[in-house]
Amino acid sequence: MAVAANNVNLSPEKVTAKLALIFLGPPGAGKGTQAKRISNELNLPHLSTGDMLRDAVTRGTELGLLAKPIMARGDLVPDEIVLGMVEERLKRPDCTCGFIFDGFPRTIPQAEKLDEILHRRGFGKPLVIEFMVNPETLLKRVAGRWTCSIGGETYNIYERAPKVPGICDNDGGKLVQRSDDQPEIVKERFAAYQKQTLPLADYYRGHGNLQTVDGGAEVNQVTRALNEILKRAAGSDGHL
Ligand code: AP5
Repeated sequence: MAVAANNVNLSPEKVTAKLALIFLGPPGAGKGTQAKRISNELNLPHLSTGDMLRDAVTRGTELGLLAKPIMARGDLVPDEIVLGMVEERLKRPDCTCGFIFDGFPRTIPQAEKLDEILHRRGFGKPLVIEFMVNPETLLKRVAGRWTCSIGGETYNIYERAPKVPGICDNDGGKLVQRSDDQPEIVKERFAAYQKQTLPLADYYRGHGNLQTVDGGAEVNQVTRALNEILKRAAGSDGHL
């Protein structure tokens, strides 16, 4: 993929290689917010396993019925369920040139299986970006998060409030809070992150493909930092 050398914005029309991008970070780190932005810039699909699972729960599918009580506790859904769901999603044509994972992988077995899948599909090593954010900021962000029930746009009553309270600026959709954003569930989600997901930082560091970003910075600043990482990864020839 080619990247404009003197511009922080990337150029999607010059995609020349397959790009698997992974956003790694705790609940509230801003993975989803930034994945939506980079997905629009690069014209690559934003694959959020959390969104896929919530959609399955809403539709009451077999997978959703299985995942519902696990997510309600703040635990991780078993690897085989998530991996099956991801493999199915990657078969869709929009994933041919690349994708941005948000919330996946989340365990070492998921990361190992993803390496296999990527290899099989002709991708190189994924580019993994870890969002670093202090715990106080994470708690405040999760507590203040409201999401559009139509388009999925995310707001925050403390820092990124909608113009009209409870209403999405983009499509007028009603803003709702996630049931797993209640303080006692958030505590469990943080614990699951520390125990099962944080080891992935060492896994990818060991593979030489981990970059970090200050996820605690202002939202546009984080986007700029991500663009800089992508530009650096593109190298002097401008191709990833
Ligand atoms: P998931 O939906 O993936 O949730 P998460 O990883 O806990 O992450 P969040 O969505 O809470 O945060 P985020 O980093 O996307 O932050 P956001 O951009 O929204 O997973 C939910 C559940 O599904 C899991 O608990 C598990 O049960 C299951 N699951 C999912 N994937 C799984 C897997 N692979 N394996 C097993 N189980 C799985 O931002 C948060 C708030 O901050 C928003 O209000 C936003 O507006 C605001 N904000 C963002 N950036 C900034 C900024 N820079 N400055 C100020 N405010 C900001």
